[in-house]
Amino acid sequence: MGQFAPQHTLKKLPPRREKVETIEILRGVNKASTALAELKGIAKTIPNQAMLINAIILQEAKDSSEIENIITTQDELYKALTVVSSKVSSETKEVVNYRKAILTGFDTLKKQQFLRVNDIVAIQQELVDNNAGIRSTPGTVLKNETTGEIVYTPPQDKAEINDLLSNFIQFFNERDEELSPLINLAILHYQFESIHPFYDGNGRTGRILNILYLILNELIDVPILYLSSYIIQNKQEYYRLLSHTNKTGEFEEWILYMLKAVENTSKSTIEKISKIKNQVDLTIEKVQNQLPKMYRKELVELLFEQPYSKIEHLVTKLNVERKAASRYLKSLEEIGVLKAHKIGRETLYINVGLIEVLKQ
Ligand SMILES: Nc1ncnc2c1ncn2[C@@H]1O[C@H](COP(=O)(O)OP(=O)(O)O)[C@@H](O)[C@H]1O
Ligand SMILES: [Mg+2]
Repeated sequence: MGQFAPQHTLKKLPPRREKVETIEILRGVNKASTALAELKGIAKTIPNQAMLINAIILQEAKDSSEIENIITTQDELYKALTVVSSKVSSETKEVVNYRKAILTGFDTLKKQQFLRVNDIVAIQQELVDNNAGIRSTPGTVLKNETTGEIVYTPPQDKAEINDLLSNFIQFFNERDEELSPLINLAILHYQFESIHPFYDGNGRTGRILNILYLILNELIDVPILYLSSYIIQNKQEYYRLLSHTNKTGEFEEWILYMLKAVENTSKSTIEKISKIKNQVDLTIEKVQNQLPKMYRKELVELLFEQPYSKIEHLVTKLNVERKAASRYLKSLEEIGVLKAHKIGRETLYINVGLIEVLKQ
């Protein structure tokens, strides 16, 4: 094959049923569904959903970008979100964009209860911060990162890309009465990546579509399940199986991989939520005991919605004077809940306990 990997004609959805519904796959669906249902239930017990969503989305923005070798640190990210700064690296900016793109997609889906191809284009545009849109010039090929060998040539013709995208979106929006949505999730992700409709950002856009598909099918209510941490740990397999399916049209191994990813990340997210919840309880207790006059539930929740907080956050959210806000933050620092961090003229107060949990 060498340089001239033949272009495989990508078939429209759905694939033949017996290819995607083997006994092993059904076993995998079972395990993944159980874990995901548990996650859905536990997420509901967190009273303040913004707290949960903020922390988890940011982690995903970081992980999903890391798969594409866009690296930033959690510290830099939070600072970029909190302080208006021109010193933010382009990588961090892309990760911040990724977060916005997830939220845009989530809002659109909530409003419409379906997605259009244009909504996908809008998500990708927000992500890459340019308006190149759907590919219209041929030349995009997928290469092996180390050897440079062409592993896959996606469709090059604009009309064909558009045609495959309409087929994709129809399958995405359809409520399948027969096949498990988790099997469809795997098929859809494969198909989107193989259409590869954009010059760049296909991986990240495709991974945003994954969580939107789970929400559309009510397998989860809020955008908190992400496969990227699993994909990072099993990245070679991710690429190998996409290629394997391109070449052979066989879906079983790919679907099993995606089911394992759902099961695994559901379990780790459950753990993370329980740690966050613990940390909230501990903080409430500490503030109640040591600063009884200052204690308000909303105050503690704010520290978890905004792991790096500043005076303005308190002023707007809690409706207090600047002076009072500043006093709150200083007292919380004295009892060890927050740690002050100066950036230029601005002081950020870091929720140290939460940052520890999120780093694990
Ligand atoms: N053989 C393949 N077939 C289909 N899709 C693939 C294959 N190999 C990699 N991909 C997908 O392509 C993505 C990278 O595409 P790219 O447009 O650069 O996305 P991003 O900018 O988000 O990195 C990978 O994350 C993966 O999902
Ligand atoms: Mg890329």
